[in-house]
Amino acid sequence: MEKTVLLYEGKAKRIYGTEDEQTVWVEYKDSATAFNGEKKAEISGKGRLNNEITSLLFSKLKEHGIESHFISRLSETEQLVKRVKIIPLEVVVRNLAAGSFSKRFGIEEGTPLRKPLVEFYLKDDALGDPLLTEGQIDVLEIADEREVEILKTKALEINKVLITFFKEIGVRLVDFKLEFGTDSEGNIILADEISPDTCRLWDLETNEKLDKDVFRRDLGVLTDAYQIILERLGGQTTCS
Ligand code: C5P
Repeated sequence: MEKTVLLYEGKAKRIYGTEDEQTVWVEYKDSATAFNGEKKAEISGKGRLNNEITSLLFSKLKEHGIESHFISRLSETEQLVKRVKIIPLEVVVRNLAAGSFSKRFGIEEGTPLRKPLVEFYLKDDALGDPLLTEGQIDVLEIADEREVEILKTKALEINKVLITFFKEIGVRLVDFKLEFGTDSEGNIILADEISPDTCRLWDLETNEKLDKDVFRRDLGVLTDAYQIILERLGGQTTCS
C-alpha cells in the first residue's frame, strides 16, 4: 500500500489518500498546539508516542467490541485507517472536573462528578469550538436526535472500557475528547485518536499530570509524560 495525495492537514496529523478508496493514511506530526492554536511548539518524538498510544488503545477497544477506524500501524508515525466522513463534533466525556468545565462552573479541578458527563463542542477552530446543546446540534443539522443518542451511548461505553484499562496501569482517566465518523455503509464509528493529547490522565497515587496539560501549563517535558503512559500500556517500539 502506498500513500497518494495529501487530503487534509490538521494541527497534529496529515491525512493522505491511498490506492484503496476505503482507506486513508494518517501521519502523526510532532507539532503541539494549545488554546486553539495560540501556543505552538515542535516536540520531537510526540508524533511517534501518540501514534503508538492510539494504536494500542484502538486495538484494546476492538478486543472489547468497540469498532474504530483503526486498521494497522504502518510505521513509528503512520497508521492505515478506514476512510470515514468526520462528524464535525468534539465529543468530550468527563469523570472529574478539570479544564474548561472547572473554569466555566468554578468547580475545583479533581472534584469527582456524580456521573460521567458527555458534552458536545462544534469542531470549528475559527469559532473557537463552541459548546453545543443537543437542540443546537439538531437545528444546525450537524446530527439528528438518533445520531446524538448513538454518539452518547458509544462515548459512555468507551469511557467504561478506558477507565478500567487506565486504572489497571495506575492512571486516572479525568476526561477525554472523541471524534466519530460515518463509514461507507452509514455506520457511525470512532475515529481520530485517543492519546495524551486528547485525554487528561493523572497518576492514580500522586495525581501527576501525564497528558497535554504538561505543555499547556508548562509543567515539564511533555514526551517524558507520554512515554510513561506508553510504557505502562506495555508499548513497544517495533511496528505491527
Ligand atoms: O479543555 P477542556 O477541559 O474542555 O477539555 C476536555 C478534554 O478534551 C481534555 O482531555 C482535552 O485534552 C480534550 N480536548 C481535545 N481537543 C480539543 C478540546 C479538548 O482533545 N479541541
